[in-house]
Amino acid sequence: MQIAPFGVEQWMNEYETRCRHNLAETCCDSITVEELLQLSDQSPEHLHELLGMRLTYGAIEGSDRLRLAIAALYEHQTGKNTLVTHGAIGANQLVYLALVEPGDHVVSVVPSYQQHTSIPESLGANVTRVPLREEHGWQLDIDKLVAAITPGTKVVSLTNPNNPTGALLERPTLQTIADACERAGAWLLCDEVYRGIDQQGSGTTVSVVDLSDRAIAVGSMSKAFSLAGLRLGWIAGPAGLLHDVTIHRDYNTISVGMIDDHLASLALENAEAILGRNRALVRANLDTLAAWVDTESRVLWTRPQGGTVTLLRYDADLTSREFCVGLVEGAGSVMFTPGSALGMEGFVRVGFGNNSEVFDAGLPLVTEYLDTLS
Ligand SMILES: Cc1ncc(COP(=O)(O)O)c(C=O)c1O
Repeated sequence: MQIAPFGVEQWMNEYETRCRHNLAETCCDSITVEELLQLSDQSPEHLHELLGMRLTYGAIEGSDRLRLAIAALYEHQTGKNTLVTHGAIGANQLVYLALVEPGDHVVSVVPSYQQHTSIPESLGANVTRVPLREEHGWQLDIDKLVAAITPGTKVVSLTNPNNPTGALLERPTLQTIADACERAGAWLLCDEVYRGIDQQGSGTTVSVVDLSDRAIAVGSMSKAFSLAGLRLGWIAGPAGLLHDVTIHRDYNTISVGMIDDHLASLALENAEAILGRNRALVRANLDTLAAWVDTESRVLWTRPQGGTVTLLRYDADLTSREFCVGLVEGAGSVMFTPGSALGMEGFVRVGFGNNSEVFDAGLPLVTEYLDTLS
């Protein structure tokens, strides 16, 4: 099966472990096992539970404890409406494998995480891309999206909050999209790995899975929960859909690791403590970024509303890859992600979830780099 190379993952693989200031990070500052225990009000003795754990495959679809803790992130879901996967990356792939066949019509809002266009295309689907536009502040043209959904459309996909723009769709817009999907008999797949750390209010926007029987949400421990090292994600959706996904999942997952399942359960049972920490982090970092953008005439942006990433348009006569390679291999060794890896030439993606010291130290070095270009 042919599939397009995954631009962002290749870029990360090239530079992530070599840069000094990682401003390409999409995860909220990762936590240690010790920090997880502290945030969960547990003493180190808690780990004794692991000493006696026989490392079998564990519960195939995820432990009941974990599935209940996942369900609690939603308004109307039960453990039976959740299925545990190898990260959100495993979740997205399984949903497409279960739903998409050659010749199917898929609608994807772009820019997005590349899985949402390249996987359905690799499965032989015709993918209609509905673009978010810079001149509209990356806000979705809802009429365009609804017009693209036709009877026979199989899947409509979104990332909310959006990666890479940080644009956020609120409940009324999500409901309009869900209703359009229901009318057309399409599935609505929403990749919600950045849910829970929005810039305003409680930080949590409604999940599509609570809005319609034709909606599927994908979530993860990696981004808003700072635990990418668990490699654990999930699908929340109607039981019938999860049954179809399970048929594929049996071929490539069996189960996730028992230790990962255990630590993810602990984290999600203490979700508010972790999300609270991370909301404070992304809100502070975004204020720092906004102050820098205000004084830096060579970059333009639309302030993001959620998530950990946003796009900056830069003023330099370089491709985005040249710009980013020069920045990461230069004196400051600051890492951004080139827009070309996301289908957004002329932009760079910056991540504002990393710890504030890295973030504060990195931005002045970007200014120094821009000085060398002018
Ligand atoms: C929108 C989106 N979905 C899924 C993933 C994959 O996440 P995970 O680490 O849970 O596999 C990423 C990672 O960057 C992402 O940005």
